[in-house]
Amino acid sequence: MSLLRRKSVEQSMRDTEQPEHRLRKDLSGLDLTVFGIGVIIGTGIFVLTGVAANQTAGPAVALSFVVAGIACALAALCYAEFASTVPVAGSAYTYSYAALGELIAWIIGWDLILEFVLAAAVVAVGWSQYFAVLLETLGVTLPPAITGGEGGAFNLPAALIVLILTAVLVAGIKVSSRLNAVVVTIKVAVVLFVIVAGLFFVKRENYTPFVPPAEPAAGGSGADATLLEAVFGQAPANFGISGIFAAGALVFFAFIGFDIVATAAEETRVPHRDVPRGILGSLAVCTTLYVAVSLVVVGMQNYAELDTAAPLAAAFQAVGQPFIANLITVGALAGLTTVVMILMLGQSRVAFAMSRDGLLPRWLARVHPRFGTPHRITVIVGVVVAVLAGFIPLEELAELVNIGTLFAFVLVAAAVILLRRTRPDLPRGFRVPWGPVIPVLAMVACAVLMLFLTVETWLRFFAWMALGIVVYFLYGRRRSRLAHDGQEGPPMPDQPDLDTGFGSSSPPPR
Ligand code: ALA
Repeated sequence: MSLLRRKSVEQSMRDTEQPEHRLRKDLSGLDLTVFGIGVIIGTGIFVLTGVAANQTAGPAVALSFVVAGIACALAALCYAEFASTVPVAGSAYTYSYAALGELIAWIIGWDLILEFVLAAAVVAVGWSQYFAVLLETLGVTLPPAITGGEGGAFNLPAALIVLILTAVLVAGIKVSSRLNAVVVTIKVAVVLFVIVAGLFFVKRENYTPFVPPAEPAAGGSGADATLLEAVFGQAPANFGISGIFAAGALVFFAFIGFDIVATAAEETRVPHRDVPRGILGSLAVCTTLYVAVSLVVVGMQNYAELDTAAPLAAAFQAVGQPFIANLITVGALAGLTTVVMILMLGQSRVAFAMSRDGLLPRWLARVHPRFGTPHRITVIVGVVVAVLAGFIPLEELAELVNIGTLFAFVLVAAAVILLRRTRPDLPRGFRVPWGPVIPVLAMVACAVLMLFLTVETWLRFFAWMALGIVVYFLYGRRRSRLAHDGQEGPPMPDQPDLDTGFGSSSPPPR
């Protein structure tokens, strides 16, 4: 039964008040929205649009963004309800602990590592590629040996940017959020510029056929088939209607990050109001921009000619606009910087919550006396991401990030339904409308996207999760604080903190 032990919502909230584990509550709703946009717009739109249009969906890639956006919007509503009810660092991990029990919570926490650490490393590698392009336009060519290029042993720029951003994160979340605000402004301006300037170069004929007919995937083997194709014994194919969904499962990467807004709930001044705003606001802005950008780009260049490395910049090169292409490169570089930073922020907050609960070593959860940030875990996350980004060519692991995230979304949606049954009394700052309908639709939509991921991705995912379960039984199960403190603590009198926000209570530790 200990596998099902649950941590009560009240207990989670009380933990946030322990002086040595207390985070500074500094963020507003606008900060959170900007945070969301800072992490959402990145490799997905700047790189994967080209890959998805060129290889899997054609001009219909815009519909793939719509498909992925719908799945995310449904999941985002569930996240918003949870984050407004349990504004505690840890996001999906904390919600599962309250609703589904310790083992599932651990599985989710382990799964989120896949999302955050791996995604941060993948995007850092993408950052280093743009960095090399920028240096080349300035006349500087870095040797491939230190840029992770052909035969290179180490990707120095990727590792360095990760370490610099780690230092920023340790210095304090308000500092990080200021840096983020500047970068987000540049990034959004560049994306808007692409949409407006690109419109002048759109050719109608590039939109036909809008959904290219399905064709066999070149060189596809069993492991390259999507799970759906494998189940029905079909050979891997691209384009057609199923291509729209397969591309949707890939460009889903572009939406990853809105859930990170929830991980910062504990550092928000009025979480029940601001967290839903931050999550839904950033997602709405990004979905609109994505659909517009993808429509413009496939209108500028035939999908078969789209570049798969830097499609936005290349489309402007192709229409004879190198200046705009350079501008996009700078915007992408700035944009990817904040993505890496906030992914690491998300990871450190989830690991912080897990160590506070004893599922990871407790000493990791100490907050820095001056900066008010979980500095130990932040540094460890930074070093791990730097090593991964420096040594391993990770591009092909992007799909693994997607499957991990989709799995987390499915569990969060399930947890919303369960927590409503087990704790109908909790004050909810935001409620998903129409009862269980939206959480169920969220689960179905995310599961459908998962079916369009490859067999190879599924196998890697199972291997990672199996490892996580072994770690839990060797460590977390015995060390868990719930195992020592007993089951659920007594409820707080009338849970005043839920509605007032933590910021109004005591000042942060100095
Ligand atoms: N959504 C983020 C990106 O596209 C992870 O880079």
